[in-house]
Amino acid sequence: MTATFIKSSPSLEQCPAHSLPEYAFIGRSNVGKSSLINMLTNNAKLSKVSSKPGKTKLINHFLVDEAWYLVDLPGYGFAKQSKSERERFAKMISYYVRKREQLTLLFVLLDIRLEPQQIDLEFIQMLGENGVPFALVFTKADKISATEQRANTDRYRRTLLQTWEELPEIFITSSEKRAGGEEILKYITSTNDQLPATN
Ligand code: GTP
Ligand code: MG
Repeated sequence: MTATFIKSSPSLEQCPAHSLPEYAFIGRSNVGKSSLINMLTNNAKLSKVSSKPGKTKLINHFLVDEAWYLVDLPGYGFAKQSKSERERFAKMISYYVRKREQLTLLFVLLDIRLEPQQIDLEFIQMLGENGVPFALVFTKADKISATEQRANTDRYRRTLLQTWEELPEIFITSSEKRAGGEEILKYITSTNDQLPATN
């Protein structure tokens, strides 16, 4: 696989023009979006990772195999940002996910250690209301046992089934242990294969 950084954009309007499918990664700040993109592309330096939340501040486009894009987004819900900065990020993210025509699927990342968080449930709700296709990715699986992983993901499924009739695709990953990436890549490949041909 070849993955190339194309552009960092401060707003939807400035995102690159193209007609290839895009797969974007969103979730709370520090959940592991940039780390996951680096694992998927097998390039530890592609997207900047930091132990401090709020690292990714722009919409970052990476072209994969000249055929599709990975998009790294800034996180939402970072408490230590100023209110105006938080609102600016929220707007940037919400515009991108609702209006970006090339967006084929949004991966919503969730820290596997946590019980369902209001902010994530509200974000998922917003996706549903706007008809944005998404899948869930649990991150940092290396931080808890297999039994706890099962318990926490089951709890999440039960919570979602209170409002959703059907569950989305769900992935369990660890960027630290390089686990779960193949399944995501396979899912992207099969989604691309089902898209109508463009040209
Ligand atoms: P923002 O850009 O600030 O929104 O954060 P992000 O979601 O891109 O998170 P990032 O990938 O920068 O990772 C945040 C921190 O979590 C870093 O210290 C990573 O090393 C760590 N991290 C990410 N994924 C994993 C994982 O699977 N396991 C463990 N143990 N740590 C992880
Ligand atoms: Mg990041």
